Amino acid sequence: MINGERMFKVPPLSPDSFEGIPREDRKTTLEVKDLRKEFPLMKGALVKRRVGTVKAVDGLTFDIREGECMAIVGESGCGKTTTLLEIMDLDPKDGVVILNGKDANSMSRAERREARKDMQIVFQDPMSSLNPRLTVREVIAEPLESLGYAGDVDARVAELMKLVGLDASQLDRFPGHFSGGQRQRIGLARALATNPSVIVLDEPVSALDVSIQAGVINLLEELKRKLGLSYLFVAHDLSVVRHLSDRVAVMYKGQFVEHGDTDEIFDHPQHEYTRKLLAAIPIPDPAVARARQAERAALAKK
Ligand SMILES: Nc1ncnc2c1ncn2[C@@H]1O[C@H](COP(=O)(O)OP(=O)(O)OP(=O)(O)O)[C@@H](O)[C@H]1O
Ligand SMILES: [Mg+2]
Repeated sequence: MINGERMFKVPPLSPDSFEGIPREDRKTTLEVKDLRKEFPLMKGALVKRRVGTVKAVDGLTFDIREGECMAIVGESGCGKTTTLLEIMDLDPKDGVVILNGKDANSMSRAERREARKDMQIVFQDPMSSLNPRLTVREVIAEPLESLGYAGDVDARVAELMKLVGLDASQLDRFPGHFSGGQRQRIGLARALATNPSVIVLDEPVSALDVSIQAGVINLLEELKRKLGLSYLFVAHDLSVVRHLSDRVAVMYKGQFVEHGDTDEIFDHPQHEYTRKLLAAIPIPDPAVARARQAERAALAKK
């Protein structure tokens, strides 16, 4: 259904359409069951030999509903990016990935290509992820053109620019002309071009100046609400996670040690690893910061 109605119909802008609707009553957009991914562990300075296996993703099970943001948090190397890439690939070697009711394991190559339009990624660094030689119009139009979009490309591009809060009169400029925050908006417009239901975000604001992070975070929130998007989101900054995500999974060595409602996990962490992670959030209030420091010292002694 390359030029079909469904793929490119602009979703109705019905603000707050999912607010107040319990998650059980919302459609599941992405479902992951027992996902695993191993890498060979190589050692040796000159001649590398395999000395074992890294279980980068070790049995993850979760689902995301429409209009919902799920964050994966955890220390560097715990397997967050590998998880995102395995899911994006829609071809798991071990485990199940179901996108909008379709099991990736039973998709033909053509179906997989078609399904990939329903899930788009926004990268951390908008400078290296946008082709500097293309104008913004070309950057955003590219996914539409490569799919043979039958509608009015210029109109769709202008509409996407407006959706991400950019001025359509800037369309003939190159990415280098824009600030980091504006470039991340261009990346978002490109990701939204094929009207996906799931957006995967790997550290979407951590390369940006703190002063412009808030604008991009608010935009992500607004788009999620207006378009009913599902986000699968990785961030180190836990204050960003608390602000943006409805659900959180705490990852440690390829597994989720804890997974559930964001407020529940932040307010009542069940697992010691989660408590350690939360204790490391910088707190602007000095009284709270002192209390946290005492908490950290107590945890370190254990
Ligand atoms: N292509 C690869 N080949 C071999 N090992 C890999 C490969 N990619 C990742 N790994 C290993 O898998 C584990 C998980 O890595 P991953 O990049 O998913 O972590 P991460 O949680 O995204 O870390 P960060 O927060 O630093 O981005 C690490 O031990 C890493 O060294
Ligand atoms: Mg990573």
